[in-house]
Amino acid sequence: MSEELPPPPDIARDVFAGEAWDRAEAFAELLAGPGVVRGLLGPREVPRIWDRHLLNCAVVAEAIPEGVRLVDIGSGAGLPGIVLAIVRQDITVTLLEPLLRRTVFLEECVEALKLQNVEVLRGRAEELAGKRVFDVASARAVAPLDRLLKWAMPLLREGGELIAMKGERAAEELAEAEPQLRASGATTAELVTVGHGKVEPPATLVRVISGRAPEQGRRRRRR
Ligand SMILES: C[S@@+](CC[C@H](N)C(=O)[O-])C[C@H]1O[C@@H](n2cnc3c(N)ncnc32)[C@H](O)[C@@H]1O
Repeated sequence: MSEELPPPPDIARDVFAGEAWDRAEAFAELLAGPGVVRGLLGPREVPRIWDRHLLNCAVVAEAIPEGVRLVDIGSGAGLPGIVLAIVRQDITVTLLEPLLRRTVFLEECVEALKLQNVEVLRGRAEELAGKRVFDVASARAVAPLDRLLKWAMPLLREGGELIAMKGERAAEELAEAEPQLRASGATTAELVTVGHGKVEPPATLVRVISGRAPEQGRRRRRR
């Protein structure tokens, strides 16, 4: 039997304020309907769409500077990319996803939600290096931090940020990624929690700031 989409929790009305509300409700229905039918989201996730998926992704907006060009690496069914585009009309969002079935769903969502600030790009992060540059890269449940650094840093301008949604293992992953952090020329790598009073527990992010322009980052220096 298919699970039913529960009514949104009260806090959702604050998080998805104003214009964002209708789009958030419509996206919840797209995930619970075609998203589940096409295997992009497990049926058992339906009761958790609001808290675990939409709200948890929306609070990441607290860590995103104004007006940035953001790439959501491995966007899947649009998490967190579509949610961030809904709550932050000031940013532009590139949903990067290699699998056709998923990019088709993403295109349909962008059209249905009339999102003007989103593009869908089919491909792998490592293939985009040298072709595009962004201010922020987001990622949720895509790869361990050290691999994510390899993929994301070449896509970021100097001073740009990787924002990885990492949850409970965030501190451990940060420690494990130490060699890759040094190799990628990161200037800052820290844990940030967002969503206090909105999601329980607050969401833990790893924020890494790039210290190199992308071209230099990809060239090996001889000493
Ligand atoms: C577990 S899913 C997570 C999807 C979404 N971010 C979420 O939290 O629901 C991982 C996604 O990363 C994508 N992916 C895997 N390798 C990738 C790569 N090298 N570049 C970009 N995306 C990749 C997969 O196709 C998949 O959609």
